[in-house]
Amino acid sequence: MSFVDAFVWFTHQPASASWLKRELADKRPDLRFAFSRPGLTTFKAARTGVDGASSFARAHGHSLGRAASVDDVLALAAAVPAGAVLHVFERDPDRPADERDQAIAGTRAAALDTALRAAAPGRFGEGVEARAGEHVLDVIVAPAEHEDDGIFVGWHRHDASHGPFPGGVPHVAIPPGAPSRAWAKIEEAIRWSGLVPRAGERAIELGSAPGGASFALLERGLDVHGVDPGAMDPRVLGYVGAGGNRFTHHAVPAAKVARKDLPRTFEWLVSDVNLAPMVALKYVERFVALAHGGLRGAFITLKLNDDGVFEALPRLALRIGKLGATRVRYTQLPSHRSEIVAILER
Ligand SMILES: C[S@@+](CC[C@H](N)C(=O)[O-])C[C@H]1O[C@@H](n2cnc3c(N)ncnc32)[C@H](O)[C@@H]1O
Repeated sequence: MSFVDAFVWFTHQPASASWLKRELADKRPDLRFAFSRPGLTTFKAARTGVDGASSFARAHGHSLGRAASVDDVLALAAAVPAGAVLHVFERDPDRPADERDQAIAGTRAAALDTALRAAAPGRFGEGVEARAGEHVLDVIVAPAEHEDDGIFVGWHRHDASHGPFPGGVPHVAIPPGAPSRAWAKIEEAIRWSGLVPRAGERAIELGSAPGGASFALLERGLDVHGVDPGAMDPRVLGYVGAGGNRFTHHAVPAAKVARKDLPRTFEWLVSDVNLAPMVALKYVERFVALAHGGLRGAFITLKLNDDGVFEALPRLALRIGKLGATRVRYTQLPSHRSEIVAILER
């Protein structure tokens, strides 16, 4: 696969294209812009491996080329071994995923997925969830609500720098009972990262009101402590899980929570405060210390309200790097607006 390694692709929110390019210019100056579509940017690379090169990439890989038909895709697919996982997905449209018409979203990718599997029975592995080391054929099309503009084909070898699902992670539709769209943000982060909180564990959420993310964690069987002076949804306050897990509200700013009111340790920290990330990180640093080494992971939303925050990302990443995690990954999820998530694990 020598010549195909020379081109790499990233999928991302269309509005993040310039930040993705600026970040890559800094971290990977060998990349030369090749071509783009809204939500997909490709480069010629002097060396391979672009893992973690951009906080705005949701998926990335090597390019194989453009295709106009099922036969073209299958010809390009000769570069990946038989049994490779097939990921057919749509680029992000220029609106948040939860505002898409859910009856239309994904239908173009689903039709192409069906056609490819029918044209080449047994060529691809069953299912779509990739496991470490597996080859993945990435087949990328325009969002179903937009004009068809052809097919882009690439591949990657699955590892922790990739979400395991088509496009890293698809949008997770918000159920009617969820108190806010942050339900989808945390669920997408869990699916993208493969870091799965378990029933019986404890989580602290900073900036928990009205309670979408806390609700998702309660539904997963965790005891959740939410820190937010704002009002929590009654469905969160009154929640009692099958295993007796509940929500505890600390209705004060994060700086005012008394140590004695928190569990002695906890496994998960979620931060979704609508504060500048430089300030939010102060609270994250405090609560990481309060977990006394018990943390398994953290999901930290970084609000990108302006270019200044973008410019500060390298300094923020240095601070996040000192929180004691064994691995830190960044991505921008389908439900994110002007924000990205830092995902930390022990
Ligand atoms: C995006 S909302 C959080 C949404 C929430 N995660 C959910 O799942 O519904 C941001 C929240 O941060 C809270 N906030 C702002 N400053 C805070 C602080 N210093 N301490 C705790 N919460 C704060 C706001 O009150 C607001 O409810």
